[in-house]
Amino acid sequence: MSQLISSLATIVGSPNVLTGEEVTRNPKSHWDPSPLQGMAIVKPENTEEVSAILKACYAAGQSVVTHGGVTGLADGDHSTPQDIILSMVRMNRIESIDKIGQTVSVEAGCILAAIQNAAEKAGLQYGVDLGARGSCTIGGNIATNAGGLSVLRYGMTREQILGLEVVLANGTVMSSMNEILKNNAGYDLKQLFIGSEGTLGVVTKAVLRLRPSTPCINTAILAFQHFDQVTRTLEIMSHGLNGQLNAYEVMWNEFYCLGTNTNIEGTIRPPLPPHYPFYAILESQGGNEESDRELFESVLGSALEERVVEDAVVPQSERGRASIWRIRENVDIVLSHDPKYIYDVSLPINAMPGYLDGVRKALIDRWPEVAFYVYGHLADGNLHLIVAPKPSNLGSTRIKKNRHAHTEDYRICNEIIYQPLGKLHGSISAEHGIGLEKKNYMALSRNSQEVEMMRLFKQTLDPANILNPGKIV
Ligand code: LAC
Ligand code: ZN
Repeated sequence: MSQLISSLATIVGSPNVLTGEEVTRNPKSHWDPSPLQGMAIVKPENTEEVSAILKACYAAGQSVVTHGGVTGLADGDHSTPQDIILSMVRMNRIESIDKIGQTVSVEAGCILAAIQNAAEKAGLQYGVDLGARGSCTIGGNIATNAGGLSVLRYGMTREQILGLEVVLANGTVMSSMNEILKNNAGYDLKQLFIGSEGTLGVVTKAVLRLRPSTPCINTAILAFQHFDQVTRTLEIMSHGLNGQLNAYEVMWNEFYCLGTNTNIEGTIRPPLPPHYPFYAILESQGGNEESDRELFESVLGSALEERVVEDAVVPQSERGRASIWRIRENVDIVLSHDPKYIYDVSLPINAMPGYLDGVRKALIDRWPEVAFYVYGHLADGNLHLIVAPKPSNLGSTRIKKNRHAHTEDYRICNEIIYQPLGKLHGSISAEHGIGLEKKNYMALSRNSQEVEMMRLFKQTLDPANILNPGKIV
């Protein structure tokens, strides 16, 4: 055993340092069952241990890749056999909830769903929700500035963070566990670490902002003939629902049809006929069962009457609601194509139809058989695009992510998707981050001064380049 590994074992206790097969028997990530690579997995129990681990790694020039729920989609969690994997699983305590101040203090390894449940028990709620809620950690959400399904109402993870505790590369603990909404005493240092994908520091704790709970939920799935109707309905709902619009998730035809193709296992029966070009899940959340439902039905009713919405189904039970959401959240079906490439671009909503027409045409020119799925958080300007050049291979892989990073097809697809975004002032990553996957395309979304400043921060905070090396910049 190397000297470093035995010092790490002294810090966290031998049972919390895994090596050899104990590492490789774990899957690489939620998306990829191939063996995890790493010199060791080290599992600290508290901030002091994280600090001691980083101090030792810093002195040895040892690279460290921090792992939460490994559900990320940009390869930001990628590790090599030379890396130490810092696993935050044991730091999963919810430390306290302040009902008056509406905050919760948590450790970084807390699972998102556990925080949502704890908030709910206190009559409050946490503003970020996403499909991976049952396995992603709050530390990973912070490191990637996770978005999800209700950004249009509460903002991304960044908007929920009041305080943060971070351990720097050399082991210094920077505790900034602010609990108040307003604190303008100089630079807001925590912002630097939110979305830094483990390259500037290791998040160990956070104070999260909570919101009053909105237990009365109204949901509908809508169908549209024209994109103008999709955007007009968004406008009507964001004005008409009294600030209660909680989700507006749009699915283009191919995505809806795959999720409701009952020949495929795990799909659900189509609640609406499959011939519409666009579908949306609309959801309001409020605090008064009767008046919320009345408002929801009356706004939706007039949208239907005016033919802004062509057709709609309102589920009458929690089960019905869950099955509608399943069409949207069952992304695994689309991702079982092999190969396939998944994107999380953003651009102005009005530019979407023109952008997508151009992309679709270029994809068909290149791969006449291509399957192209579009869905996403339309109100945030954020679309997910999934491209499967050989659609006949549906259901053929358990690897759910872009595994073809070095193929010519993937490079060409990236060019088709990313190039038009520069002119549209869009982004190559709305919410998944840069990781390893999008590094080469950074210049399309950030100018050279911005990238230079990112490098400067990285060099200043991590001069030995031990934290998640090679990611982002
Ligand atoms: C989603 C993930 C891919 O929204 O971000 O489905
Ligand atoms: Zn998303």
